[in-house]
Amino acid sequence: MTQSSIPRRAIRGPFLTFHADPFTTDPMDALHHEPDGLILTENGLIIAAGSWDGLRDTIPAGTAVDHYPDMLISAGMIDTHVHYPQLPVIASYGEQLLEWLENYVFPAEARYADITYARAVARQFLTELLRIGTTTAAVYCTVHPQSVDAFFEESERLNTCMIAGKVLMDRNAPENLRDTAQSGYDQSAELIARWHNRGRQLYAVTPRFAPTSTPEQLDLAGALLATKPDLFMQTHLLENRSEIAWVRELFPDRASYLDVYDKAGLLRPRAILAHAVHAEEADFQRCHDTGCSIAHCPGSNQFLGSGSFPLFKALNPERRVHVGIGSDIGAGPSLSLLQVLSDAYKVAQGLQTKLHPAQGLWLATAGGAQSLGLEDRIGSIRPGLYADLCVFDPAATPLGRIRAQTAETLADRLFALTMLGDDRSIAATYVAGELLHKRSTV
Ligand code: GUN
Ligand code: ZN
Repeated sequence: MTQSSIPRRAIRGPFLTFHADPFTTDPMDALHHEPDGLILTENGLIIAAGSWDGLRDTIPAGTAVDHYPDMLISAGMIDTHVHYPQLPVIASYGEQLLEWLENYVFPAEARYADITYARAVARQFLTELLRIGTTTAAVYCTVHPQSVDAFFEESERLNTCMIAGKVLMDRNAPENLRDTAQSGYDQSAELIARWHNRGRQLYAVTPRFAPTSTPEQLDLAGALLATKPDLFMQTHLLENRSEIAWVRELFPDRASYLDVYDKAGLLRPRAILAHAVHAEEADFQRCHDTGCSIAHCPGSNQFLGSGSFPLFKALNPERRVHVGIGSDIGAGPSLSLLQVLSDAYKVAQGLQTKLHPAQGLWLATAGGAQSLGLEDRIGSIRPGLYADLCVFDPAATPLGRIRAQTAETLADRLFALTMLGDDRSIAATYVAGELLHKRSTV
């Protein structure tokens, strides 16, 4: 659908959005709560957001009003690290990273040579994302260029803002999943020309991780990035101890794992490094200096036994690093960012730190957008931004209803939502002003 043909909409109900950063301001002061709000949209964008009483007279005649009186409306959530081809092998038993890749992921990814299969999974994946309130994601496809076409075709049909890229992998992978430094460059360049900034689609140059790329391939990835300042880059970093030891063997001349990427010219704003579980002070400093971002994936880190990412160290105000959150499907056992926030809370507790629910929601919305350099398009409820919204129902389940009755403050209500919530807690999801998901049962 073209944006000029998207009808006007009025969405009424309590809404939440951020007007400050809850890691530097008191979290509940950073959060704006409009108890009876109105969001007006036109051509896919928010044109007004405020109190129902203040704005009701501005609703153009004939505009339908969707009313969510007992819900909490938020900007749609943003998943900064996820693999769509791994959806069919989510929740696979027993291994840590390298064996898990070998036993489950590589066989699963080999199937995407078939574009019909890729289209079917891309459609299931995007349907599932909208069902759990995620409206933007940074997505790995597979080494096959057709896996990227399949994904972007479906995202374009939905008009979702998605970041995705072809995996680059020219060594240490099965033969049917390898490209070469040159073919990976050429195929990525073609995909960039076809998809980057086409509608709401954005391209990420995607070397899988240091062990599966030769230094030549990483250098060419850097050269490709240098052609356009607004391209994204995504890869994995410092996830697992065996992986880290392997990178040391493969790149003996590099000062650190991060330095492998740094020397190839991959570190800059809009570069997303997943995990960084074992990052040290020098790594955080370099991430800060180069403006790249970390995707914190606590569900995945627990599932694969990778370790605990020190979120509050990364956010040290002296040299703060941008951080978003990621489900990292299929290593993550849930695509729901509410469940990922519950994991993030528990991981922070284990490190003797406290993640406030408003800080969690910020990471999943405005902070995620900022970590991707997209804060002027998504992540908040503000005129001029896309009307990408999700509607939370904190009392969606019998347990949620019991718990909601004891919640006397907004902070407590929000905390219980992020601890107990899942797909059932998403009453509706809007993409560019269009209602694309409405929960069928309450
Ligand atoms: N490191 C390299 N590839 C992957 C992957 O597919 N998932 C995770 N979690 N880590 C990786
Ligand atoms: Zn991953």
